[in-house]
Amino acid sequence: LAALHNLNVFHWHLTDDQGWRIEIDAYPRLTETGAFRRDTTLAGEPGTFGGYYTKRQIRDIVEYAARRYIEVVPEIDMPGHCLSAIANYEGLSCFDQVGWGKVFTSPLCPGKDAALEFCRNVWSEVIALFPYEYVHIGGDEVEKDNWRKCADCQRRIAQQGLKGVEELQSWFIHEMERFFNAKGRRMIGWDEIIEGGLSKTSTVMWWRNWAPQSVPEATAHGNDVIYTPATPFYFSQNEEKSSMRQVYDYDLAPASLSAAQRAHIIGVQANLWAEGIPSRSRMLYMYFPRILALAELAWTCLLYTSDAADDK
Ligand code: ACM
Ligand code: ZN
Repeated sequence: LAALHNLNVFHWHLTDDQGWRIEIDAYPRLTETGAFRRDTTLAGEPGTFGGYYTKRQIRDIVEYAARRYIEVVPEIDMPGHCLSAIANYEGLSCFDQVGWGKVFTSPLCPGKDAALEFCRNVWSEVIALFPYEYVHIGGDEVEKDNWRKCADCQRRIAQQGLKGVEELQSWFIHEMERFFNAKGRRMIGWDEIIEGGLSKTSTVMWWRNWAPQSVPEATAHGNDVIYTPATPFYFSQNEEKSSMRQVYDYDLAPASLSAAQRAHIIGVQANLWAEGIPSRSRMLYMYFPRILALAELAWTCLLYTSDAADDK
């Protein structure tokens, strides 16, 4: 269906707090226990809701997509949204006790070398499965309270001459980006990666309607941007909140950006967070017909953007 509508990238959000969905040989507990949620939000029975993709299945999907000219971008969300990892391996978080904080879950501890080692090991296996240039680090919604209290985080901040926990997040993201680049990959992150200092080369995926400065800031800095503001591009929201009309009318090349900035808008994306989508038919219902408007927007508005850059 994506190929039929000229959608050429599949962004695969493979990990989150509630479930780790990709087999990693070095860390079997990520899927043995990390793939199955213990709360009962959807399932009824504790521990029964979940599942994961084997490496074989991932390769099959990448291959299936490739035959249809669709690239797959894997996302392993870090340093936040990874309770499914840190609850199953010791030494990845600031403190032994992990769970939900004020708003989000306890993050990885960027002060511990072992936690960074874990991230690199996981990504080495992920990269081997995905032959494309882009990888997605996540980087969204990190609750940094633990980092303020953690001796390892504070030591890292001091040693690296960082101003505080925002810069610690950037330091972690930049470390990972260096690792990706050394493997010939380019990094995408949710637009929180701007906070605390954006590297010159990362691509920013703008999702936060309430942080509209992310796009002008990133493009002025010379970084590429992919649009996916939650309204209207989170198709897990119903049509009252994110309508077909809003998708069609969205301006991906606002006049407030210069032609040079507009040339950095490289794509638009719709997200379907499957948390509240219990069936395939419901999934299709949420995608269609809005996905048609998304495809048309992408191939009209963005063509105009690159024309403008050529004219310049
Ligand atoms: C996101 O929706 N937290 C990227
Ligand atoms: Zn820490």
